[in-house]
Amino acid sequence: MSAKIVTFEELKTNNHKDSLWILLHEKVYNVTKFIDEHPGGDEVILAETSKDATEAFEDVGHSDEARALLADMLVGEFEKDGELKVKSSTKSPSQSAAVSSAVEQGSNMMYFVPLGLLGAYFAWRYYTNGSV
Ligand code: HEM
Repeated sequence: MSAKIVTFEELKTNNHKDSLWILLHEKVYNVTKFIDEHPGGDEVILAETSKDATEAFEDVGHSDEARALLADMLVGEFEKDGELKVKSSTKSPSQSAAVSSAVEQGSNMMYFVPLGLLGAYFAWRYYTNGSV
């Protein structure tokens, strides 16, 4: 199975509202139908056509839900050695993995701290009642 290779020329041709492709993480997505539904508005996406939109996309801190939407819009891989050089995307995924594991740890804490307090309260009740 060979993925379609999208050239910089093709990316530049699809840079208007009737046909809109966006380059993210070395892959090209067709966002023509999605653009009207984009919670961040159409202008921000239109400003990222014909170039690597990865940084703008990552700066916003898009959710996993936003990333999941991309799968249906995939056109193909962006050409590797063309005119437009794209930055390797190895850094961002590991960063976001670190962030999500930190968030996960944070929410575990949110769960255990109230439980711990409840346990401490009952232990206190038990010991104070016992001593009366
Ligand atoms: C092309 C793929 C894109 C998809 C599928 C997408 C999807 C979404 C989704 C679902 C949200 C809601 C919040 C969230 O779930 O994270 C959002 C918010 C946002 N997006 Fe995108 N987005 C895309 C590209 C971009 C680009 C290239 C920019 C450029 C800067 C951008 C800027 C924003 C901004 C500023 C918000 C925040 C809106 C607000 O909360 O007021 N998005 N996007």
